[in-house]
Amino acid sequence: MAGQRSFSQRLCGLSIALLALHCLCVLCKPTARDDAGSILALSNRIVPEYVTRYAPLVWLHSDDPFRPADLLQHIRHTTPTINQTAIPDLPELDLDNLAILNDIGGGKVALTSNDDITTLPAWLYGSSPDDSGRIANATPCVVILVEHNARNVDAFYFYFYSYDRGANITQVLQPLNRLIEDTEHGMHFGDHVGDWEHNMVRFRDGKPIGIWYSQHVSGAAYAWDHKALLMKDERPLVFSAYGSHANYVSPGDHIHDSALVDYCDAGRLWDPVLSAYFYHLDPATFELTHIFQPKSNVSAATNLTSFFYYTGLWGDAQYPDSDPRQKTVPHFGLKRFVSGPQGPIVKQLVRKKLSPDNPGKKSWMQWAVGVFMSLYPCCLRGWRVWVSATVAITIVILAIFGVRYSVKYGMKRYRARKGYRKLDTDIPLNDINGSGESSGLHSPS
Ligand SMILES: *[C@@H]1O[C@H](CO)[C@@H](O)[C@H](O)[C@H]1NC(C)=O
Ligand SMILES: *[C@@H]1O[C@H](CO)[C@@H](O)[C@H](O)[C@H]1NC(C)=O
Ligand SMILES: *[C@@H]1O[C@H](CO)[C@@H](O)[C@H](O)[C@H]1NC(C)=O
Ligand SMILES: *[C@@H]1O[C@H](CO)[C@@H](O)[C@H](O)[C@H]1NC(C)=O
Repeated sequence: MAGQRSFSQRLCGLSIALLALHCLCVLCKPTARDDAGSILALSNRIVPEYVTRYAPLVWLHSDDPFRPADLLQHIRHTTPTINQTAIPDLPELDLDNLAILNDIGGGKVALTSNDDITTLPAWLYGSSPDDSGRIANATPCVVILVEHNARNVDAFYFYFYSYDRGANITQVLQPLNRLIEDTEHGMHFGDHVGDWEHNMVRFRDGKPIGIWYSQHVSGAAYAWDHKALLMKDERPLVFSAYGSHANYVSPGDHIHDSALVDYCDAGRLWDPVLSAYFYHLDPATFELTHIFQPKSNVSAATNLTSFFYYTGLWGDAQYPDSDPRQKTVPHFGLKRFVSGPQGPIVKQLVRKKLSPDNPGKKSWMQWAVGVFMSLYPCCLRGWRVWVSATVAITIVILAIFGVRYSVKYGMKRYRARKGYRKLDTDIPLNDINGSGESSGLHSPS
């Protein structure tokens, strides 16, 4: 008996111990996961290792003179203006106070070049990487980690250039190039001061699963194992287009906006994360926190977050047509100089998919050019235009005959139906008459 009791007591004790262990596990698990998940909870706000291990490597075009540029140098060579007028009484601006410009009312602030842009001042050209891919003495890259939860982190790698030179006539596809009058021989259009480009790598449990490449107003998304992606030591390669700095997965020519060509080649390799600022962004509060690489020399005394919240333009606002520097491409309304862009804050950093949730809207001109260019190879090129015209005219003639026939036939049917309806109403009348006579509706008199 005693042995049995002690056995059941032991069993009971064991179950209690197991239950306690189970409870402990249940209690511990979520907190343990949270601690492991929050990047900010890591000691000394350290950049997770996977963010640099899988960071993109950028091939700058061999002939592109406009290289990545230091953010602070860019600010120092510009003056904030509203409506082309300098804002008075400002302190010296830097990355730690730029957002004070948001409080100045009455219009959109534009960081406007201190120099005449048509003279292409030296600072517009940025800096070239050395043989190791590092851009020394400049920080042209901003990495922002959007931590959705413990498992899912989107890393945005922003690349900054002080100048974007748009396409010229040689980059316009046939036959639109014949429609554009090259009044200013070889002039580039769509040029602007300041240029923010980016890749976004989506991580799950520290492993990359997909990547976004920014290209002009939109871009392209790829699964990490997509065949089109080129890799070097597990890092995706990015080809920065000549002048525009749009990001592509391969060298060579790339068509954008239906009618323009971007050129890419493996010119000079840039390793952006070697000269970058790193941040953590809370998607719920939009709070940005400076974080650090393990062996970086960046001082933790400065936050360097104010520039992120600046919502104005990073370059000159589009010059009015009355400005002698401004030119317009006849018929298409394209301007030589357009406004500089807004910063990373407007790039839809909290995304469901790899692509921005709200794609930009196309103007009717872009839409028309798109339709025209998609029809051009099959139906409008050379002799095909005559075939297409004949087919179109035939369709129009057939349509006219068709409409005439259906109108005629419809009228006939309509009249016929009207007649039938008449009969319809007649029958009961006759009926009544008939029945009246036969059934003796006459009141008995
Ligand atoms: C900007 O300038 C234009 C023309 O000079 C003027 O009509 C407009 O009111 C100005 N806007 C602001 C915000 O000052
Ligand atoms: C277009 O721009 C490129 C690069 O700047 C230049 O080499 C070319 O000559 C220009 N085209 C024309 C027609 O001038
Ligand atoms: C950090 O500073 C030390 C000494 O000032 C220098 O030797 C080292 O190269 C720097 N490291 C980086 C990553 O810049
Ligand atoms: C950095 O951020 C903290 C907390 O928001 C603030 O107290 C501090 O003044 C900031 N430092 C600088 C240099 O802006």
